[in-house]
Amino acid sequence: MSTTDSKSAQGALPDGLGTHARAFLSRQQLLLIGSQRCEAADGARLQTLDPATGRVITDVPQASAADVDLAVGVAREALTTGPWATLAAAERGRLIWALADAVEVHAEELSQIESLDQGKPVGLARFVDVAMTVAHLRYFAGWPTKIEGSVVPVADTGTLCYTRREPVGVCAAIIPWNFPLLMAAWKLAPALAAGCTVVLKPAEQTPLSALRLGELALEVGLPPGVVNVLTGDGQTGAALVDHAGVDKIAFTGSTAVGREIGAKAGQALKRVTLELGGKSANIILPDADIDAAVKGSYQAIYFNSGQACNAGSRLFVPAERYDEVVSALADTARSARLGPGLDPGTQLGPVVSAEQLARVLAYVESGVAEGAELVIGGEAVLTDSGGYFLAPTLFGTSSDDLKISREEIFGPVLVASPYDSLEEVAARANASEYGLAAGIWTRDLSNAHRLAAMLRAGSVYINRWGSVDPAAPFGGFKASGIGREHGHDGLDAYLETKTVWTAL
Ligand code: NAI
Ligand code: MG
Repeated sequence: MSTTDSKSAQGALPDGLGTHARAFLSRQQLLLIGSQRCEAADGARLQTLDPATGRVITDVPQASAADVDLAVGVAREALTTGPWATLAAAERGRLIWALADAVEVHAEELSQIESLDQGKPVGLARFVDVAMTVAHLRYFAGWPTKIEGSVVPVADTGTLCYTRREPVGVCAAIIPWNFPLLMAAWKLAPALAAGCTVVLKPAEQTPLSALRLGELALEVGLPPGVVNVLTGDGQTGAALVDHAGVDKIAFTGSTAVGREIGAKAGQALKRVTLELGGKSANIILPDADIDAAVKGSYQAIYFNSGQACNAGSRLFVPAERYDEVVSALADTARSARLGPGLDPGTQLGPVVSAEQLARVLAYVESGVAEGAELVIGGEAVLTDSGGYFLAPTLFGTSSDDLKISREEIFGPVLVASPYDSLEEVAARANASEYGLAAGIWTRDLSNAHRLAAMLRAGSVYINRWGSVDPAAPFGGFKASGIGREHGHDGLDAYLETKTVWTAL
């Protein structure tokens, strides 16, 4: 990614793109503010790259504080004076459903755009990112007609006291590059259901699917200004966070930036939800179905090339089964097919950027330097096409104090460790600043639920990993975040409660 002053020459688009994706990628990409598609006020643009080759796909505007100011103003107007402000709940639901339909109709196009921009296998983009985006929008499309206040039985009987649930206001949605479209939907769907308006800021590495989503939102009839899309980097994000007209910030990304946003939101007393990093413990109990545990644990870490906030990046294995599990994982890893996301035979795509590859490789180096056993992988893979590939990497260590055991790596790197008892493994799993997810593999459901209660994590997966559903709350304990997305909790984060008192 680099900033340029004018539109750069676009390289030839790769094979594997259909006509719709090609048509979208061949257009000049512009910000979406209200009904206007426009350049950044200062004309700045930034390039987005294909992680499978390192080549430029296209460039997009780099929005500055002036664009943020304009977009927030337009979002405020849509919230207070536009048709959105007085739209019937059922109509709001219909529009969210219509957006889900539009995403579904454009599923192939969106999957290809996502695969090219992010690097992930196109099948994964289709059946996870796009399919879950549709599911998420449909779930929240059902909510507007069920958002109810209540009559409160206050002590003074000569009083009517009732509550209204009102939209929290203008929401800034700042999203990461690992599941760009889906993370946008995780924020957009409940915001729209609640009646909020949104300024969406995709990650600088993966801006394209959000721009397409913004266009679809306008096409299906969401009033202009309800969904605005500003492409740009962290400075654009910071300008949004700092803008006095933003009522709520919804952020998914690094813990470092999450802390900064949380601090600013605290100062300004803005509403905030944060979905941050993780170092999630995946625990195999001695009686587990080992084949299933190995398959599940493999996917838990290497899915999306390890770039998932809830990746199962610490694996705890009973000492007596350790060698067996580690060698089975290494065998599977050895046969992984790495390649460009748009190649239908690819199992593992590149990591998102040269910067991310360097970051992950630095962790690998530190693991070796601190004495962990490098079982497999650990090296950048040079393919004919270039690109940011790293083979699935597996470390073994009995220490929990190494950097690779403590810090989020966000790449295809697993750290496996032997343990002896249930109490020991629960304590070790919890000895982390993070608490996003945890996993348990066992046939003994009594042990599974005892352990599930002991683990300090926002999601616990038993005999599976990574399950997500729009109805099921998702979020972190400890440094993994604040608040929950999905379900009732997810909607609540976009609502304020107003209490109305009337003397009768
Ligand atoms: P990041 O946290 O810098 O980026 C996430 C989003 O925040 C992007 O849209 C970015 O433009 C924006 N942003 C950056 N600085 C900002 C600021 N000061 N104020 C407001 N918005 C800002 O993450 P980055 O640098 O891309 O990745 C670094 C590490 O973060 C990864 O190695 C990984 O460990 C973690 N990460 C975690 C994610 C998760 O899903 N929990 C997703 C992406 C990264
Ligand atoms: Mg890109």
